Amino acid sequence: MDYMRIMFGVVMLHVHGASASVYISTTSRGYTSTETGSPYFECYRSSPSLTAAVSNGRYVYLYNDRLPPVNAANADPPPSVAFDAGNPPTQSYRKNLETNDHMSYGAFYCAASLDGERSVVPTLFLRSDARFVPTSGRFSKTVNKGDVNVTVDFTEITPSVILMNWRFNGTTDMTETISVGTIFTELTVYTIIGEVDTSHGGVYELHLESERGLARAGLLRLIVRACPAGRYDESSGCTQICPSCYNGGICHDQTGICICPPGFQGDGCEMACGRNRYGRNCEYRCDYELSDDSTACSGLQVCVPDPYGCSCTPGYKGLNCTTECDQGEFGASCTETCHCVSGECDRFTGVCTGSSTKCEPGWTGTNCQECMVGRYGPKCERKYNCNITGIQILHASAFKITQINIHTMLKKE
Ligand SMILES: *[C@@H]1O[C@H](CO)[C@@H](O)[C@H](O)[C@H]1NC(C)=O
Ligand SMILES: *[C@@H]1O[C@H](CO)[C@@H](O)[C@H](O)[C@H]1NC(C)=O
Ligand SMILES: *[C@@H]1O[C@H](CO)[C@@H](O)[C@H](O)[C@H]1NC(C)=O
Ligand SMILES: *[C@@H]1O[C@H](CO)[C@@H](O)[C@H](O)[C@H]1NC(C)=O
Repeated sequence: MDYMRIMFGVVMLHVHGASASVYISTTSRGYTSTETGSPYFECYRSSPSLTAAVSNGRYVYLYNDRLPPVNAANADPPPSVAFDAGNPPTQSYRKNLETNDHMSYGAFYCAASLDGERSVVPTLFLRSDARFVPTSGRFSKTVNKGDVNVTVDFTEITPSVILMNWRFNGTTDMTETISVGTIFTELTVYTIIGEVDTSHGGVYELHLESERGLARAGLLRLIVRACPAGRYDESSGCTQICPSCYNGGICHDQTGICICPPGFQGDGCEMACGRNRYGRNCEYRCDYELSDDSTACSGLQVCVPDPYGCSCTPGYKGLNCTTECDQGEFGASCTETCHCVSGECDRFTGVCTGSSTKCEPGWTGTNCQECMVGRYGPKCERKYNCNITGIQILHASAFKITQINIHTMLKKE
């Protein structure tokens, strides 16, 4: 492949792709209206974890000011129903949640266990009359250990002057709130002052004082990678450099594997699945009755293993995953930017559309998301010369990811 050609002498330090963590996706519908309709979530394993044992249930307990048996929202959800999905078909599981007594409000999960390894993938459900919603339009936020002044942001739907309570990870203790300051207008944003750590990772809950029992809180899950940005392998002190993960993929903090957004696959998440598909290997369809060019994924939220978390499938954004990407953006929850001369790209794949299908200068790859060889920087605007010391650049292809240490390469071909 063109972009794999490397101009310099090459020292290959690392090849990824051989090992993979246990992989399961948690999908949900009706997750922003838990009191009406038919809210549910589903658990889908992906190869190479197809034989993993699946479990599901409530992740943390968020609603605790009523005693059993009235405390229905803390009851475990009803048993899941098994069905076959995927290609080849794999047993998957559906959990239909009950709308009465706030029972479908809160945090749930699918988990998969294989060979002593376990992967837990949570998902959050809110009432349609929630007082607060995550400002970003996503139920999870991923940050890196050491990031400074990380915020957890909610928007208040109808501003009120009632005091707010912040809670962390579903405390049952009514007095156990997080202190965020005293100025009302600042209270919908919680700032973790200083460097963030894995101890800050969990479910944040914001509710009006005395309203916790109404299950109208806002919920957001903060995921803290155990290594600083761009690094992985906590056991070695995060000495390893992450590969490039394209299209919104996030480098796993222990294995260095790219955890791809729903709708993308490949070692560097460089391949788009098509409109109607998701799954680690694009093996699942949002609607099995419909073809790959349908828009059946609208309204579906997909959560995949940490550190990625939850998002819409490509082409959609907003908490409900029903808003189409604006022109110039694409991908899962529309987080990615088109790099096309025309300024337009396919909102599902990022492939250039419009008057020209050329990439902007410096960019290459099927959807113009990779810097051309010899270029780097956020806009691929910078060029390497051979006197840069100690900087590592990365080149990704569908097959392998190679790390090159410029310091060791002083000879041009
Ligand atoms: C999302 O869906 C809920 C429930 O149907 C609805 O109340 C809410 O207005 C929707 N929000 C947006 C931004 O479309
Ligand atoms: C983080 O917040 C603290 C307290 O508000 C402030 O003093 C500090 O300058 C901030 N650090 C950065 C890097 O923004
Ligand atoms: C928050 O709760 C989850 C689920 O029980 C747990 O895995 C996580 O470690 C908790 N976070 C902290 C910081 O205790
Ligand atoms: C390489 O960079 C170093 C530090 O910036 C500088 O001292 C040195 O003269 C440079 N060498 C060449 C051949 O340009």
